Amino acid sequence: MSTNITPQDLEKIVPQAEDFLPLLGTDYVELYVGNAKQAAYYYQTAWGFEPVAYAGLETGRKDSVSYVMQQDKIRFVLTSPLQADGAINKHINAHGDGVKVVALWVDDATKSYEETVKRGAKPYLEPKVEEDKHGRVVFSGIHTYGETVHVFVERKNYNGAFLPGYVPINPSYKTTSVGLKFIDHMVGNVGWNEMNKWCEFYANVMGFAQLVSFDDKDISTEYTALMSKVMSNGNGRIKFPINEPAEGRKKSQIEEYIDFYNGAGVQHMALATDNIIETVDALQQRGVEFLTVPASYYDTVLDRVGEIDEDLAPLKELGILIDRDEEGYLLQIFTKPVLDRPTMFFEIIQRKGAQSFGKGNFKALFEAIEREQEQRGTL
Ligand code: FE2
Repeated sequence: MSTNITPQDLEKIVPQAEDFLPLLGTDYVELYVGNAKQAAYYYQTAWGFEPVAYAGLETGRKDSVSYVMQQDKIRFVLTSPLQADGAINKHINAHGDGVKVVALWVDDATKSYEETVKRGAKPYLEPKVEEDKHGRVVFSGIHTYGETVHVFVERKNYNGAFLPGYVPINPSYKTTSVGLKFIDHMVGNVGWNEMNKWCEFYANVMGFAQLVSFDDKDISTEYTALMSKVMSNGNGRIKFPINEPAEGRKKSQIEEYIDFYNGAGVQHMALATDNIIETVDALQQRGVEFLTVPASYYDTVLDRVGEIDEDLAPLKELGILIDRDEEGYLLQIFTKPVLDRPTMFFEIIQRKGAQSFGKGNFKALFEAIEREQEQRGTL
């Protein structure tokens, strides 16, 4: 199957996607981290996530500990090893803190496994059932790029806090939500010449279709370049852009990621809000650091995007970027990496009709990233 999918192809693919792999949404994202207790405090205090469930020594788990952090529909699981030399330790040693599992919520985890493995997915977890007094959950899993995996979660017969083996927690320390609602999209960085391979994986194995592509002419500055294609499932709830580095005069930001992550992995999650000004203001007050563009960006931005509902002044003060497509506009901003290695970061996005990804901001953004790379000595 070609990765340059036409609208006619899309009509053929989408019903097929509905047939063999209906995805209800992102169930959770699990990060392997060096110190889950402290990471949980960071996501709670700075990002407004509530700790809702826990598994560890106290619950009978011997080898690892996990905190489940939730804000509206977004659920992060932060997992650390409790012993030496296990699979989690190896993952952290190779990649630093990072995303291991992108879990997808399905109606039938057994069928999701069979259909994707039949189409060429590398198995990660054969279908298995876990039960407790709150019901039963069926899991299965397949590999995707790098050491990242997709776990299919069937939870229609479960009503516990998270999953069997977890206990609900309700700590006395409270945070307040910053207004994050759901994961809008989740971006993978893959190695040189691997973008098409992984887009074909999402097309052929998971029935996704390609929404848009950007090549190095869209996404390049004087020094750095990358290529990107956006893959989406049939109902549009799951969007996975895939980036690969492109040749520039200096090192691509994607190559910097691959070097420090030691391979392909999740580059950023875009978290949606209904009020980006309030959300970003709260995050900045709590110490979350964002990339900034020169003040001159705001001198001409309205010439490019036309009229918007918001006042420009708070957008400028907070460093929020604006872009427009045929369907409307969007507001977005990117954090600096949230880990010591220059790997994963977050995007905050508010869509006002636009269904695209902020192509008009790429140049200003990449110049901001290059200034950061310069300081790290990795440009
Ligand atoms: Fe993004």
